[in-house]
Amino acid sequence: MAEDLVGYILVFLTLLRKGALTLEPSFDVPVINITVVVGKTAILPCSVEFLGDHKVVWTDEFSTLLTFDNKRIIDDDRIGIDRPYTRDWNLIIHDVKVKDRGRYICQINTQPIKTKPVDLNVLVPPQILNDDGGGREIIAKEGETVNVVCNVSGDPAPSVKWYRRPLTDIEGKERERIGMEGEILVIHNVSRFCDGVYQCVASNDVPPAVEMETKVIVEFQPEVTMVNTRQSQAKGKMTILMCYVTAFPQALSYWRYHGQEVPTSERIKVEIYPESKPHTISLRLRMLNISESDFGEYECVASNKLGRDREAMILFEYRPPEPTSTTTTSVVIPTTSTSRSLVALVTYRPRVTEKVQPFKPGEPSFVSSQNGGHILHKNLAVIVVTLFLSSLSIS
Ligand SMILES: *[C@@H]1O[C@H](CO)[C@@H](O)[C@H](O)[C@H]1NC(C)=O
Ligand SMILES: *[C@@H]1O[C@H](CO)[C@@H](O)[C@H](O)[C@H]1NC(C)=O
Ligand SMILES: *[C@@H]1O[C@H](CO)[C@@H](O)[C@H](O)[C@H]1NC(C)=O
Ligand SMILES: *[C@@H]1O[C@H](CO)[C@@H](O)[C@H](O)[C@H]1NC(C)=O
Repeated sequence: MAEDLVGYILVFLTLLRKGALTLEPSFDVPVINITVVVGKTAILPCSVEFLGDHKVVWTDEFSTLLTFDNKRIIDDDRIGIDRPYTRDWNLIIHDVKVKDRGRYICQINTQPIKTKPVDLNVLVPPQILNDDGGGREIIAKEGETVNVVCNVSGDPAPSVKWYRRPLTDIEGKERERIGMEGEILVIHNVSRFCDGVYQCVASNDVPPAVEMETKVIVEFQPEVTMVNTRQSQAKGKMTILMCYVTAFPQALSYWRYHGQEVPTSERIKVEIYPESKPHTISLRLRMLNISESDFGEYECVASNKLGRDREAMILFEYRPPEPTSTTTTSVVIPTTSTSRSLVALVTYRPRVTEKVQPFKPGEPSFVSSQNGGHILHKNLAVIVVTLFLSSLSIS
């Protein structure tokens, strides 16, 4: 018990002596580091107790005098002294720059000098250095290596993530993440399927994140494909020859007959439609009232600066089997590109024999007349067959 009492007294005496010492100026805020985003205002705290007649001075780490008492010494009007309370001698820096980063020292001109350092850390939001404001485009040939570059700066160093979306906006098709990080996205052996809008997104702890888009366009030589390489039609009818051309840039494409581009006319037309497959068109040769001189070999030819391709098809005459008792007429009515209805009018004519069949009452009027033509007319059976041939091409 007595020892405890002695202890208390000792502590009390110590406090008393300390109290006497605090008449000397002292800093009452612990050392801290200040972090601000570039462009903002930094307040570097320094609070002093018992300043008395002493003065407060701020210097930078190179001992450059910034302030003395409450006056600015340095020729930089972004800097000043902020004094919300009597004991406060905070250094205020407006519109902080990256070069302001470093150590600042609050000093009291006691003997010896008392100092308190404050470290200023400046954060810089991410920035894309090679962003020239849009329209970035890389054109490559299949097989080449493509580097998509996004040079970034910022503090802390930003991370760069990559995304890709189709060149043409497809509804419901979101950009997709590419599992790569870094300033350079390398695409080896680029193929036509690698084309798209590549997006880099740079971010660090300092918002906002920034992004940049680069179009990657992949060129390749044309490829011509056909569904049919043989097609038949009867004279006087119409037909459509069709080929597909896949190319980038899109090729100069045409139909050729006897070594010459097929001339278009009232009767013969060339139609070009975009297809859902990327970089693909269909090239259709629509021919009405075809005649003998239309039969033969046709070529679908496509070329661009990287090369050319061709495919051939034969158009030959359709001869219906010799009618014995039936005649068949078919009319092709083109409707949309995906569904066509084929209307076949089948006329059925019963064999007319020389033999006059005996008349039987109650039977249909089949043989009731002596006039053969009349019989024929009466027994004309018309069957209309409508076939919906979706995705079948006309033959
Ligand atoms: C202040 O930052 C310096 C480096 O700039 C570091 O060494 C020190 O530990 C930091 N002090 C505090 C209190 O965060
Ligand atoms: C981008 O960074 C690469 C290397 O990382 C460098 O070679 C190139 O010069 C930089 N370009 C710009 C515009 O900063
Ligand atoms: C490049 O890609 C094509 C397919 O797009 C492939 O056939 C070829 O082997 C690849 N070449 C190399 C060197 O990887
Ligand atoms: C179809 O072509 C032939 C000649 O080949 C012509 O005599 C006939 O008038 C043409 N018919 C139509 C409907 O144009």
